Amino acid sequence: MARLPDSFIDDLLARTDIVEVVGTRVPLKRQGKEYAARCPFHDERSASFTVSPTKQFYHCFGCGAHGTAISFLMNYDRLEFLDAVDELARRVGMEVPRDTRQNNEDSGTRDLYAALDAAAQFFRRQLAGSDKARAYVARREIDPAIVERYAIGYAPDGFSGLRDALGTDPRRMQLLERAGLFSKNDKGSVYDKFRDRLMFPIHDRRGRTIAFGGRVIDPEDSPKYLNSPETALFHKGRELYGLWQAKQANAKLERLVVVEGYMDVVALAQYGVSQAVATLGTATTPDHAELLFRNAPDVYFCFDGDRAGRAAAWKALESVLPRMKDGRQALFLFLPEGEDPDTIVRKDGAAGFDMRLREAMPLSEFFFAEMSKDVNLGTLDGKARLAERCKPLLAQIPEGAFGDLMKQRLAELTGLGARAEQPAPRAQVAPGKGVRQSPIRTAIAALLQQPSVALSLALPLRFSTLQQAGVRLLTDMVLLVHSRPDITTGAILEHFSQDEQGKALPRLAMAPLVDATVATPLDERVLDDADKREQTFRDAIARLNIQAMQARREELQARLATLDQAEKDELRALLRATSGLPSQDV
Ligand code: UTP
Ligand code: MN
Repeated sequence: MARLPDSFIDDLLARTDIVEVVGTRVPLKRQGKEYAARCPFHDERSASFTVSPTKQFYHCFGCGAHGTAISFLMNYDRLEFLDAVDELARRVGMEVPRDTRQNNEDSGTRDLYAALDAAAQFFRRQLAGSDKARAYVARREIDPAIVERYAIGYAPDGFSGLRDALGTDPRRMQLLERAGLFSKNDKGSVYDKFRDRLMFPIHDRRGRTIAFGGRVIDPEDSPKYLNSPETALFHKGRELYGLWQAKQANAKLERLVVVEGYMDVVALAQYGVSQAVATLGTATTPDHAELLFRNAPDVYFCFDGDRAGRAAAWKALESVLPRMKDGRQALFLFLPEGEDPDTIVRKDGAAGFDMRLREAMPLSEFFFAEMSKDVNLGTLDGKARLAERCKPLLAQIPEGAFGDLMKQRLAELTGLGARAEQPAPRAQVAPGKGVRQSPIRTAIAALLQQPSVALSLALPLRFSTLQQAGVRLLTDMVLLVHSRPDITTGAILEHFSQDEQGKALPRLAMAPLVDATVATPLDERVLDDADKREQTFRDAIARLNIQAMQARREELQARLATLDQAEKDELRALLRATSGLPSQDV
């Protein structure tokens, strides 16, 4: 993926007001220094969702959703990162930088898209001109409007229809080859990959053709369906057939229905079920799961009721488990023998198909049904076995009410661990539960809550030589604030969102900072006073500085015999500085 300069993202966030961005989508109520609303990312009656204008950050105390204006748009409008950035940039009139390397890449990629588009047009013209292909479309009862909407076409019989029409010079030949439209024989000569097939173009999220699926017309031919190979633009494990059309047809997707075949998607659309998508002859991958939930909160997986169908459904379940954040639902629908969504919707219409969806099996039910197979829950051994089987899978569910309920259900089934597995209180900031005291955590939390505290430090930073988790991160954060003194919490979080060590930051940004030096009840120690926050930050840094000096002292002492004069002077100074001084004086 293209990488934008951090400074651009910083500027963009500095010019964007998250309250405005969220406020145009969710009704916000002022509440002290912040704004509150019912959380748009999970069902709730109270208002746990807060937006902080000073931190430029949103956070839900109920489901834990949090982030900047960019991540809000990604989650709420279901945009990809670059599209969310584009949208915000447009609002504030900023130009999104495209560096030169990307420009070169872009022109190559643009040509590839153009070649695929030309191929799609070619196939459509061929369909219009072929009696045989049109007869097949009529036999399958695909309406002209659907042929149009899904841009269905026909690849002619023969080995060079496409090649002759579009491969008119070596450059075009090369593009078509890179687009995956040719096969090569042993002698190295190139011929059309798709021949005498009904062609389904596969679109990306912007509606551009990136690949094709082709179905045989002659039942003697095989394989029945042939997909484009993986190319620079097409990775089948990450694409869903029909997603673009589903997004076009629905202003807001409340659900997606995952089916197995191209024909299922188009038949459902024809009968008014316009939220169907298909994986492309592969199992549902974790990438698919993320893509699905990013586009709709409820995802129905439709499979054959046979053994292969159930196995495929289980694969899908394994892919979605780690994505089951609160507010998301996965359901499973098993079809009767010999039927697929195409045949069912033609028989029963959209209403009949919808009725089946309403009776779909929730993930939890399917999960425990499969896990309890050949387990005798009447015996202790059986219960123990079930618990063992479930544990690693349940551990993959993100923290939240759904995971808690699944564990509770397991406890009910086994009578095991009901007590131990009690759902932990999940409010991110339980009263009295502040940031765990360690100088590094305290310093990071204080800096996140009030970035300007970092300006009170002089550079270079003594503590940055410490070999300790979080030191590199803290150093980077201080330097960032020094280079951008007005940076907000949200922009800092965005900055470190790709950072392995930065994962805990959003939580620290919201946890109350407690003053460890006074012995009042915890709740009263929450530091919302700016001066005290800065003091807390400086104290934590002072402690880190001492640790760094002690570490350096020990290092020098360990090789006393080999020290040069400068090092000896340094050691003497360190000994003076670290001998029994109270931390505040350093
Ligand atoms: P099916 O064999 O169930 O076909 O394959 P279908 O969708 O019912 O199609 P029709 O009704 O016979 O035309 C389901 C899906 O599995 C993939 C394709 O994506 C297909 O849509 N598949 C199937 C392949 O990739 N290759 C094959 O040879 C067969
Ligand atoms: Mn079928």
